[in-house]
Amino acid sequence: MKVLSKCFLAICILSGFNACEEEIVQEYSVLPEPQQIEYASGKFKVKDGISIAFPHELANEAAYCRDAINRLFTTVNPVLKEGKKTADIILVLDAAVLPEQPEGYVLDVKKKQIIIKANAPAGILYGIQTLRQLLGATSASSGQAVETRRATSLQCGTITDYPAFAWRGLMLDESSLFRGKEGLFKLLDNLAELKMNVLGWHLTDMPAWRIEIKKYPELTKNPTHDKKIAQRDSINKKGSFYTQEDVKEVVAYAAARNITVVPEIEMPAHGNSAIEVFPWLGVAKNVGEKTPDNLVSNYISDMTDPKVIEFFQNVLTEVMDLFPSKFIHIGGDEVEYHYWKDAPYIKQYMKEKGIKTPADLQVEFTNKIAQFAASKGRRVIGWNEINGANIHNEKVEDHITERHLDPGIIVQYWHGDISFAKKAIEDGNDIINASTRHAYLDYTYKQISLEKAYLFNPIPEGLTVAQQKKVLGLSASMWTWQCPDDNAVNHQIYPRIAALAEVGWTAPDKKDYKRFLKALDYFLTDWKKQGIEYGGY
Ligand code: ACM
Repeated sequence: MKVLSKCFLAICILSGFNACEEEIVQEYSVLPEPQQIEYASGKFKVKDGISIAFPHELANEAAYCRDAINRLFTTVNPVLKEGKKTADIILVLDAAVLPEQPEGYVLDVKKKQIIIKANAPAGILYGIQTLRQLLGATSASSGQAVETRRATSLQCGTITDYPAFAWRGLMLDESSLFRGKEGLFKLLDNLAELKMNVLGWHLTDMPAWRIEIKKYPELTKNPTHDKKIAQRDSINKKGSFYTQEDVKEVVAYAAARNITVVPEIEMPAHGNSAIEVFPWLGVAKNVGEKTPDNLVSNYISDMTDPKVIEFFQNVLTEVMDLFPSKFIHIGGDEVEYHYWKDAPYIKQYMKEKGIKTPADLQVEFTNKIAQFAASKGRRVIGWNEINGANIHNEKVEDHITERHLDPGIIVQYWHGDISFAKKAIEDGNDIINASTRHAYLDYTYKQISLEKAYLFNPIPEGLTVAQQKKVLGLSASMWTWQCPDDNAVNHQIYPRIAALAEVGWTAPDKKDYKRFLKALDYFLTDWKKQGIEYGGY
């Protein structure tokens, strides 16, 4: 319990006795925990017709603030005052507020006014997310969703806040389970409330290709080879792919919540859904190799074939037109090198180009695609096999590489010894940490408990200060091939996503699992209301 002293100095002097009065502070409970909280004396009273003043540039954020308050209180009807400088809640853009922090904000609760200041709309939005939690305070019994007790008054104080990491993401596999727009909007709402800012959208993989490409309409007409997935698609009646119009809607909905949608188009492995339609994309086309299930040899693309490179460039051109994200994910994981090694024309190509190992070949084509993306102002991301790392204990000689990834490429570390992440940084690449040890949400709660997710430190040990800056942040991964429906996905995502949100936002020295569990009550209540069946601890 915090206590503030209010001393009436004049009275003290005049009367000669101590006239200090103690005020019990209603402490804020915010998740992710803010950088700095300073309490002040007095309370702000929440009232009907609460007004929100904002400049024109913050119309989106003001509407968001109004809707958030509307969702919390049926009896408070917020009024928007565009262009006005004074009201009960004031949103202020000011370049001088935390100028080094593009997502930072200052939330000032005074007796008569609440002021949210930031240097950019993103910070204003995060200030509103914090205010929403202060207003929606729940009772403090930890571990279970409880009935919401709305705050009728707020303790005065100042919160100064900004994130520990710039990249705070969740990757969702929609190749295996198609969620559909409405489900995605809900997910985006919940990510934004947790101040997460990236949705990695895994749109192509073995089960199905989920994004319309106008140049290759066959890709989304392909009934998936996977009977289980086909059956799910037909049961859930949400369609089975996103049209380009759908994609634009999703991207805009996310952007209004400061979330960048990063599309992932898998190459050269996990390509069955495309290779089935265009067999010339696959390694097997020339060698005529077929496994009994007719699948595995069609898993990997032949990245030595200019026609194949052209296909991926055409696909990426449409993708980059749809996604304003500066980052485009190209997969790159789990390439079984023996398929490349067994193909005589790939051997020939490698000989002609002086490429000694399959790892060198992977680096060569990754750089080629990255240079294409860079010509359109984008940076490529790939899983941590893209630099040839031998993370699956395969033949050592296949993974020896003399080549380096272009420095603009980002390595998404997921598997293998942490030294692979460090090696990528030493080679000059930025990394995103998506470790299977802490951030794979398809893993069971026995493998990754809520606490284990919470204890994740995205910065590998032993890095210099300069090297630590190359860790952009973290990404949770939600692979869905084992999930029959959205409920099963939600069970895996929630509540661990809240733990990872705090990992991404809160300074490591401010993390405290017990305090986190208390603050989680607000979200458990909210998710329960949404019908989300969250998982255990
Ligand atoms: C992965 O989980 N295959 C990146």
